Amino acid sequence: MPYRLLKPDLGTRLDTVDSTNRYLRLAGTPPGSWVSAQNQTQGKGRGHNNWLSLGDQKLFFSGKVQFPESHASLTLFSLFMGSAIVRTALEIFPELDGELNIKWPNDIYRSGKKVAGILIEAEYNKGIMELILGIGINYFGREIPESLQDKASFLLNRSMSAQEEESFLMALIENINRTLLISLEQNSVWKELEWIDSISFFKGKVLEWEDESGIERASYLGYDEEGLLILRTADGRKIELLDSPKNLRIL
Ligand code: BTN
Repeated sequence: MPYRLLKPDLGTRLDTVDSTNRYLRLAGTPPGSWVSAQNQTQGKGRGHNNWLSLGDQKLFFSGKVQFPESHASLTLFSLFMGSAIVRTALEIFPELDGELNIKWPNDIYRSGKKVAGILIEAEYNKGIMELILGIGINYFGREIPESLQDKASFLLNRSMSAQEEESFLMALIENINRTLLISLEQNSVWKELEWIDSISFFKGKVLEWEDESGIERASYLGYDEEGLLILRTADGRKIELLDSPKNLRIL
């Protein structure tokens, strides 16, 4: 069993569910399965956060895949899911070219505001890693709560037709499988990381955060082959981050 990717015909479409990630975990569904829903009542976000998506049209999606345990880091998978989402959006809505960015490690931004998030949950058993790849996208809406107006937005300025939604979903599954396959081959990993770098939200920016030793400040350099974020401080020190520190700010 080297790996199991998503199977387009192993999908379940739901109107409302508590959490698509939880659904796939509990349903005893085989690897390759995926689920999409239009509403989610108890969406899980990263850390201990809930995921509340905005707007009138949205996608809640989860897929279950399997890989050998040692295969790749969850950070790399998360970055690659970001790449799958952006590639899908650009395929279906080429007019978004130049507006979308991947914010390491798990967010998609449009014109400076978050429009999609990724939550990957992993279980390890007898050398096999089972991943639940969770994706939430704010497709379109007319209103954003006051408190989120600087932070969150929609993928589109107009509603999506049923046909566009279907094409988006099928292209997303294809692009997820494509990036998972890429993760198997080192040269392809670097090529994909190069593309991710070209649309990286942090590109050209200086970041600041707090850790045990105090305030750190460093400029974005790129990613390593495991998807870790590489930064350089003003005095030339190289820093690699596995996950986003709390209070990460862009200066
Ligand atoms: C984040 O930005 O905190 C990640 C959000 C991920 C949310 C998605 S929505 C579909 C899937 N099901 C969940 O319960 N969470 C993920």
